Amino acid sequence: MTTPDYAEKIPNNVELREDRRLQRALESWQPNFLSWWESMGPTLPTRDVYLRTAINVGREGWAHFAHVPMRDYRWGIFLAERDPGRVIGFGEHKGEPAWEQVPGEYRADLRRLIVIQGDTEPASVEQQRNLGATAPSLYDLRNLFQVNVEEGRHLWAMVYLLHAYFGRDGRDEADELLHRNSGSEDSPRILGAFNEETPDWLSFFMFTYFTDRDGKYQLGTLKESAFDPLSRTCEFMLKEEAHHMMVGTTGVDRVVERTAQLMVGNDTDDVAAFGAIGLPVIQRYLNFHYSVSLDLFGGETSTNVANYYTAGLKGRWNEDRRKDDHKLTDDGMLVDALVEGEIGQAEVAALTGLNTDLRREYIADCTIGVNRWNKILESAGLPHRLGLPHIAFNRKVGAFAGIEASPSGELLSPTEWQQRKTEWLPTDVDKTYVRSRMHAVYDRGKIASWIAPPRNGINGQPFGYDYVHLA
Ligand SMILES: [Fe+2]
Ligand SMILES: [Fe+2]
Repeated sequence: MTTPDYAEKIPNNVELREDRRLQRALESWQPNFLSWWESMGPTLPTRDVYLRTAINVGREGWAHFAHVPMRDYRWGIFLAERDPGRVIGFGEHKGEPAWEQVPGEYRADLRRLIVIQGDTEPASVEQQRNLGATAPSLYDLRNLFQVNVEEGRHLWAMVYLLHAYFGRDGRDEADELLHRNSGSEDSPRILGAFNEETPDWLSFFMFTYFTDRDGKYQLGTLKESAFDPLSRTCEFMLKEEAHHMMVGTTGVDRVVERTAQLMVGNDTDDVAAFGAIGLPVIQRYLNFHYSVSLDLFGGETSTNVANYYTAGLKGRWNEDRRKDDHKLTDDGMLVDALVEGEIGQAEVAALTGLNTDLRREYIADCTIGVNRWNKILESAGLPHRLGLPHIAFNRKVGAFAGIEASPSGELLSPTEWQQRKTEWLPTDVDKTYVRSRMHAVYDRGKIASWIAPPRNGINGQPFGYDYVHLA
């Protein structure tokens, strides 16, 4: 069960061979996926890339590393191992056996949840497709491609569920996942942040830190699902996500480190003369990516999400570590709200506040990164600090969508916002400057001037390893 067969056209650990109909359906989707990858995936021509491929779902040694041509990457279907005794951990079905099939009454909701998750995976590949042309090092280039092929595999993970459990509707949705495109006028991706472009590597690192991290939290709630195949799929995806988080965290680390080095070495705040990116620009990029990622969690209150929870479709982050009845029918909580026009909090039923609950877990996690970056500044002997902006800053979704607030949380009139927003969000000048710093460095062991080299390479290889062979 746990060893995928790589002799198969579609490597998998779900005994696809036993289900000819499903196998045929997925094999007919496969060429569409590959032509999507060719037309919407990475644009930089490469011979091969040092990539990891999942070969097992167990705790130890689940991945294999080798140089492979990206087109021949073995995108497969991997679910975490089944626990035959698993029971539902929350909601009105708490304590009942987990579902191996989709209950008819929850079919539409489950399909929707899977489609929304599935839509983000290829979207990020599309957003990042041109970044290879300006990679700061071969190491970074390899990490970009690793993230890309794994987001492609996450699409496979969701498409498998759609094909295997949702019949004709599921197959149609799987086709749609390849038809919608990031930033498209006619058929954009479902969620706003996935239609923004990722034009430069600072954006890429901020995206993998903040926006990919939203994905981690969404997968964490779906991992709790009563629908066991979804739960097992997400559990395995979370394993791969850890690398994406690492790319974002250490990526920003290295930009901050390089900037700090130049500030101290040259006794100046203005590092542009040395080809690096100043702290105010880094802060504005952070403000942007953080605030659009907060929007991905939806409104502060949501009856849909309350229903998903009660039905057992989507749980909370670390559901099993929560010390309550896992039903929440009688509980209340405070959520962020506009109270008589002021930024404040309001008490709501705990079930309707679940988006807020998840967003708070996410915010706590984001704080860890900011603390890391501030430690880098501190150990360089600099008094400057980065920070997360206020929850009401630059929001387009939820309680604060209709107001404007500064990063410190003061309410602003529309005019004040218009006058001051360039202090807080990336300006055209910032973006042009950052883009002007993006020159590809493809020599082994070399790195661009605006970023420090990583402390460790990949899979024990040195930084100067030949991670990518260009075509
Ligand atoms: Fe993903
Ligand atoms: Fe990811």
